[in-house]
Formats: sequence, structure tokens, C-alpha cells
Amino acid sequence: MKNLEYQKPLKHVIVCVNERENEDCCLDVGGMELFTYLKTFVRNNGLSGRVWVTRSKCLGFYNSMGSTVVIYPEGKWFTEVKEEDYKKILEEIKI
Ligand code: FES
Repeated sequence: MKNLEYQKPLKHVIVCVNERENEDCCLDVGGMELFTYLKTFVRNNGLSGRVWVTRSKCLGFYNSMGSTVVIYPEGKWFTEVKEEDYKKILEEIKI
């Protein structure tokens, strides 16, 4: 087992990009677009080592309106995230 304490991010943003056949899911309502938007923001603002943005499978919500995001260490959850909400998510991950 390796101790990766030195790699601990200040923020970890997990974005659902789950995909299902014949059911609503975050991939169908912008999950990948949100993931790419956040990842690009982090990279372009020199935050890559301090803010991690990770894709995930279903985070436990049923979505037909927008994707699900959770931000740690605060444990802030956002569901039904749409493009007009992206700037609010950025405010949450600025350090
Ligand atoms: S499909 Fe995204 S939270 Fe379940």
C-alpha cells in the first residue's frame, strides 16, 4: 500500500457521466459537457494539482434535467445542473 498524502487535492469535484440504455441519466443531460468545462477551467487556471475533476458513474440520483456534481471536502451536492449553473459551480471550486 502506498501513502499518497502528498497528492491530496484541496478540492475534489466528482461529475456524474453515467450512461444507461432507455433511461434518463447524466450523460444525456450534459454530464460530459460539464466535466469537460470544469476540467478545462482547472487546467487553464493552473489549478490541476489542487483541484481534481473526476468522472463517475451514477451518484445515486435519477436525472432527466441536468447532471449531478459533488464537491469535497465540503460535501456539497448539486443535482439537475444545467449550463446556466456552470458559473455557480466554478464559484464553489475556486480556491
Ligand atoms: S445518472 Fe447521474 S446521478 Fe445517477
